[in-house]
Amino acid sequence: MIVEQPFQTIIEPFKIHSVEPIRVTTSEHRRAALRAVGYNLFGLRAEDVIIDLLTDSGTGAMSAEQWAGIQRGNEAYAGSPSYFRFLDAVQELFPFEHVLPVHQGRAAERVLFMAVGGKGLVVPNNTHFDTTRANVEYTGAEALDLPIAEGLQPSLRHPFKGNMDVAALASLLEERGADVPLVMVTITNNSGGGQPVSMENLRAVRAVCDRFNKPLFLDACRFAENAWLIKTREAGYEEMPVADIVREMASLAHGMTMSAKKDPLGNIGGWLALNDGTLAERCRNLEILTEGYPTYGGLAGRDLEAIAQGLSECVDEDYLRYRIRSIAYLGEALEAAGVPVVVPFGGHAVFLDARGLLAHIDPLAYPGQVLSCALYEEGGVRSCEIGTVMFGRDANGRERPAPMDLVRLAIPRRTYTQSHIDYVIEVVTRVAARATSLRGFEITSQPAQLRHFTARFAPLASNVAGGD
Ligand code: F0G
Repeated sequence: MIVEQPFQTIIEPFKIHSVEPIRVTTSEHRRAALRAVGYNLFGLRAEDVIIDLLTDSGTGAMSAEQWAGIQRGNEAYAGSPSYFRFLDAVQELFPFEHVLPVHQGRAAERVLFMAVGGKGLVVPNNTHFDTTRANVEYTGAEALDLPIAEGLQPSLRHPFKGNMDVAALASLLEERGADVPLVMVTITNNSGGGQPVSMENLRAVRAVCDRFNKPLFLDACRFAENAWLIKTREAGYEEMPVADIVREMASLAHGMTMSAKKDPLGNIGGWLALNDGTLAERCRNLEILTEGYPTYGGLAGRDLEAIAQGLSECVDEDYLRYRIRSIAYLGEALEAAGVPVVVPFGGHAVFLDARGLLAHIDPLAYPGQVLSCALYEEGGVRSCEIGTVMFGRDANGRERPAPMDLVRLAIPRRTYTQSHIDYVIEVVTRVAARATSLRGFEITSQPAQLRHFTARFAPLASNVAGGD
């Protein structure tokens, strides 16, 4: 049940326990830093960043109880009690039979797709995250995004823009069923704007999977935020405890990949969980090859303790109410200032519509990259491009505009206060006011895969891609 709040102000339901300094820099310093890293914000030293909204992954503040768990960590190579506490905490929410800890989400993806991927196969998802896509493609398979059409229109309001296009999934399975090893749904849909997936949609996806006898896997990194958004937006769930909503989501799937660096409030970790014993056996053997023995999976016992504790904290409804409200607070202020943003606001981040704001910059001149660099130059705010830099190449390496050019302001969990966010609002608003003066970028060097991490850029002389 949602407890009525007698006050307008939803406070951070915690107080600060230890602090880290923030170094304030000048715009001159930041301009030089940008030039030095080839306009790729991943290349910056974190000390040169004032407010770091690059990611909400592993960047959250741990609780006193999590630090206590760190002390309790048992480092036995096999069968550590820390593993069993981790196992119990995972199965309490996701009662899958086999739970394989891994060092982070992409390791779960790698193990899973090494086991089920391969040339000629196709993996549908509402929207693959970059590492999921890369791991699918690395096996030779195709990573196919099937979001609902509403999910691709930043300014269109729909409560569950993360939903999968169920009809498109059914026709894929009708045409190429034999080539589909499993169906994935990402909750919340990160690359699509942190947007939730409804229980109704999950149920419909599961029904299609059953019709074609395909397993359904959740990429469940932000399951708690997704569950809270179901509770507050989907009819019939208003009274249900968040933990029960999570268990209902889990009951619709055959397995999951997970990054414990997101909702479980860990600084590192993840897991692969599934019911199929034969597949679990294959995955366990692959896990041993690169991650470690299956009761630690590349993590220290202390990390498993921190995750176990974090799992109980992240479904706390006071925490989730504050978390989702604080994201909307940022989004609403930017929207009121006339900055184009993805609406409605979802979980973990506010997404700026860079293509909307920088309509004078061709998508192939990377408006999202341009905007994220301008935010850094203006006020030392580090964000992340989710657009044509990240997703602008097809599996054959051909360049084409991504469906959207977004800039993500991801909010680390329990880390920044409201005045930090007020500062971010000021920085974004100032950049938006001089948007038409910004120029596009070209790529001067890039790797074959996951180019957004290491590509280098240079400002173009004009605003046409490849301009002279
Ligand atoms: N799936 C989703 C939906 C993600 O957002 C991420 C990571 C992963 C899988 C991979 O997990 O980082 O633990 O290996 N997202 C981070 C981000 C990096 O910034 O959104 P990982």
